[in-house]
Amino acid sequence: MKIVRYPEPVLRARCKSVSAATPDHKVLAKDMLETMKAANGVGLAAPQVGKDEQLAVIDVSHNPQCVTYFKINGEDADMVKHMPVVFLNPKIEPVGKQKETDEEGCLSFPGLRGQIRRPAEIKVTYQTLDGETVTIETDGLLARAFQHETDHLNGILFIDRMSAAAKLGLKKKLARVMQDWEDLD
Ligand code: NI
Repeated sequence: MKIVRYPEPVLRARCKSVSAATPDHKVLAKDMLETMKAANGVGLAAPQVGKDEQLAVIDVSHNPQCVTYFKINGEDADMVKHMPVVFLNPKIEPVGKQKETDEEGCLSFPGLRGQIRRPAEIKVTYQTLDGETVTIETDGLLARAFQHETDHLNGILFIDRMSAAAKLGLKKKLARVMQDWEDLD
Protein backbone atom coordinates (compact mmCIF):
# COMPACT_ATOMS: atom_id res chain seq x y z
CA MET A 1 0.00 0.00 0.00
CA LYS A 2 1.06 3.58 -0.51
CA ILE A 3 1.93 5.42 2.71
CA VAL A 4 0.25 8.80 3.01
CA ARG A 5 2.61 11.66 3.73
CA TYR A 6 2.24 14.83 5.71
CA PRO A 7 0.37 17.17 5.13
CA GLU A 8 -2.27 14.96 3.47
CA PRO A 9 -5.55 15.93 5.25
CA VAL A 10 -6.50 12.34 6.25
CA LEU A 11 -3.61 12.46 8.75
CA ARG A 12 -5.63 15.07 10.68
CA ALA A 13 -8.87 13.03 10.70
CA ARG A 14 -10.39 11.92 13.97
CA CYS A 15 -10.87 8.33 12.89
CA LYS A 16 -14.19 6.51 13.22
CA SER A 17 -14.35 3.75 15.78
CA VAL A 18 -14.82 0.25 14.39
CA SER A 19 -17.83 -1.34 16.11
CA ALA A 20 -17.35 -4.77 14.52
CA ALA A 21 -14.41 -5.74 12.34
CA THR A 22 -15.31 -7.12 8.89
CA PRO A 23 -13.26 -9.38 6.58
CA ASP A 24 -12.16 -6.15 4.88
CA HIS A 25 -10.57 -5.00 8.16
CA LYS A 26 -8.64 -8.27 8.33
CA VAL A 27 -7.31 -7.74 4.81
CA LEU A 28 -6.49 -4.11 5.67
CA ALA A 29 -4.55 -5.17 8.79
CA LYS A 30 -2.57 -7.78 6.84
CA ASP A 31 -1.74 -5.28 4.09
CA MET A 32 -0.74 -2.66 6.67
CA LEU A 33 1.62 -5.13 8.40
CA GLU A 34 3.30 -5.90 5.08
CA THR A 35 3.54 -2.21 4.22
CA MET A 36 5.00 -1.38 7.64
CA LYS A 37 7.62 -4.15 7.38
CA ALA A 38 8.60 -3.17 3.85
CA ALA A 39 9.17 0.40 5.13
CA ASN A 40 11.11 -0.82 8.22
CA GLY A 41 8.58 0.76 10.57
CA VAL A 42 7.52 -0.43 14.03
CA GLY A 43 3.98 0.92 13.74
CA LEU A 44 1.41 2.07 11.19
CA ALA A 45 -2.06 3.57 11.64
CA ALA A 46 -4.98 3.31 9.18
CA PRO A 47 -4.99 7.04 8.28
CA GLN A 48 -1.41 6.55 7.04
CA VAL A 49 -2.83 4.35 4.29
CA GLY A 50 -5.76 6.71 3.69
CA LYS A 51 -8.42 5.07 5.92
CA ASP A 52 -10.05 7.13 8.66
CA GLU A 53 -10.78 4.18 10.94
CA GLN A 54 -9.53 3.32 14.42
CA LEU A 55 -7.16 0.50 13.46
CA ALA A 56 -3.39 0.33 13.79
CA VAL A 57 -0.58 -2.21 13.84
CA ILE A 58 2.68 -2.49 15.80
CA ASP A 59 5.59 -4.93 15.75
CA VAL A 60 8.59 -4.44 18.05
CA SER A 61 9.60 -8.13 18.12
CA HIS A 62 12.96 -7.32 16.51
CA ASN A 63 13.93 -5.76 19.85
CA PRO A 64 12.90 -8.07 22.76
CA GLN A 65 14.84 -5.85 25.21
CA CYS A 66 12.82 -2.73 24.37
CA VAL A 67 10.38 -3.25 27.28
CA THR A 68 11.11 -4.11 30.91
CA TYR A 69 7.68 -5.66 31.41
CA PHE A 70 4.67 -6.77 29.39
CA LYS A 71 1.31 -7.72 30.83
CA ILE A 72 -1.69 -8.84 28.85
CA ASN A 73 -5.04 -8.82 30.65
CA GLY A 74 -3.15 -8.44 33.92
CA GLU A 75 -0.82 -11.44 33.43
CA ASP A 76 2.93 -11.28 32.76
CA ALA A 77 3.60 -12.51 29.24
CA ASP A 78 6.32 -12.85 26.61
CA MET A 79 6.09 -9.67 24.53
CA VAL A 80 7.68 -11.24 21.43
CA LYS A 81 5.01 -13.97 21.31
CA HIS A 82 2.28 -11.32 21.20
CA MET A 83 3.73 -9.47 18.21
CA PRO A 84 2.53 -8.20 15.84
CA VAL A 85 -0.37 -6.41 17.50
CA VAL A 86 -3.41 -5.35 15.48
CA PHE A 87 -5.51 -3.02 17.61
CA LEU A 88 -8.83 -1.24 17.21
CA ASN A 89 -10.37 1.65 19.18
CA PRO A 90 -7.44 2.03 21.61
CA LYS A 91 -7.75 3.97 24.87
CA ILE A 92 -4.53 4.82 26.69
CA GLU A 93 -3.97 5.69 30.34
CA PRO A 94 -0.54 6.65 31.62
CA VAL A 95 0.61 4.53 34.57
CA GLY A 96 2.45 6.62 37.15
CA LYS A 97 3.86 10.08 36.57
CA GLN A 98 7.22 9.30 35.01
CA LYS A 99 7.92 10.71 31.55
CA GLU A 100 10.65 9.74 29.14
CA THR A 101 12.20 11.53 26.17
CA ASP A 102 13.33 9.51 23.17
CA GLU A 103 13.78 9.86 19.44
CA GLU A 104 10.82 9.11 17.19
CA GLY A 105 10.24 9.00 13.49
CA CYS A 106 7.06 8.51 11.46
CA LEU A 107 6.59 6.83 8.09
CA SER A 108 4.46 9.82 7.02
CA PHE A 109 7.45 12.13 7.57
CA PRO A 110 10.34 10.64 5.58
CA GLY A 111 13.73 11.78 6.87
CA LEU A 112 12.36 13.53 9.95
CA ARG A 113 13.23 12.45 13.49
CA GLY A 114 12.74 14.26 16.76
CA GLN A 115 12.91 13.95 20.53
CA ILE A 116 9.45 13.42 22.03
CA ARG A 117 8.52 13.39 25.71
CA ARG A 118 5.78 10.96 26.68
CA PRO A 119 4.58 8.98 29.70
CA ALA A 120 7.03 6.10 30.26
CA GLU A 121 4.45 3.48 31.27
CA ILE A 122 0.96 2.96 29.92
CA LYS A 123 -2.10 0.79 30.05
CA VAL A 124 -3.86 0.43 26.70
CA THR A 125 -7.27 -1.14 26.18
CA TYR A 126 -8.38 -2.05 22.66
CA GLN A 127 -10.43 -4.51 20.60
CA THR A 128 -8.92 -7.23 18.44
CA LEU A 129 -10.11 -8.14 14.93
CA ASP A 130 -12.08 -10.94 16.61
CA GLY A 131 -13.96 -8.49 18.82
CA GLU A 132 -12.12 -9.42 22.00
CA THR A 133 -11.24 -6.61 24.45
CA VAL A 134 -7.59 -6.73 25.51
CA THR A 135 -5.53 -4.71 27.99
CA ILE A 136 -1.76 -4.39 27.71
CA GLU A 137 0.47 -2.77 30.34
CA THR A 138 4.03 -2.01 29.29
CA ASP A 139 6.84 0.54 28.99
CA GLY A 140 9.78 1.33 26.72
CA LEU A 141 9.51 1.42 22.94
CA LEU A 142 6.23 -0.48 22.92
CA ALA A 143 4.54 2.05 25.22
CA ARG A 144 5.86 4.81 22.98
CA ALA A 145 4.62 3.06 19.82
CA PHE A 146 1.11 2.60 21.27
CA GLN A 147 0.99 6.30 22.13
CA HIS A 148 2.30 7.38 18.71
CA GLU A 149 -0.18 5.19 16.79
CA THR A 150 -3.13 6.06 19.04
CA ASP A 151 -2.31 9.73 18.47
CA HIS A 152 -2.57 9.09 14.69
CA LEU A 153 -6.11 7.74 15.17
CA ASN A 154 -7.03 11.03 16.84
CA GLY A 155 -5.42 13.20 14.15
CA ILE A 156 -2.42 14.03 16.34
CA LEU A 157 1.05 13.86 14.80
CA PHE A 158 4.44 13.53 16.47
CA ILE A 159 5.43 17.05 15.40
CA ASP A 160 2.58 18.28 17.65
CA ARG A 161 4.36 16.68 20.62
CA MET A 162 7.75 18.28 19.95
CA SER A 163 9.03 21.20 21.95
CA ALA A 164 8.89 24.53 20.09
CA ALA A 165 12.71 24.56 19.99
CA ALA A 166 12.91 21.04 18.53
CA LYS A 167 10.33 21.94 15.91
CA LEU A 168 12.20 25.09 14.96
CA GLY A 169 15.36 23.01 14.48
CA LEU A 170 13.48 20.77 12.04
CA LYS A 171 11.90 23.63 10.10
CA LYS A 172 13.94 23.04 6.94
CA LYS A 173 13.37 19.28 6.94
CA LEU A 174 9.67 19.79 7.53
CA ALA A 175 9.50 22.24 4.62
CA ARG A 176 11.15 19.57 2.46
CA VAL A 177 8.60 16.93 3.49
CA MET A 178 5.82 19.36 2.53
CA GLN A 179 7.48 20.25 -0.77
CA ASP A 180 7.93 16.55 -1.65
CA TRP A 181 4.25 16.00 -0.97
CA GLU A 182 3.32 18.82 -3.39
CA ASP A 183 5.69 17.40 -5.98
CA LEU A 184 3.93 14.03 -5.78
CA ASP A 185 0.80 15.38 -7.46
NI1 NI B 1 3.58 7.88 12.68
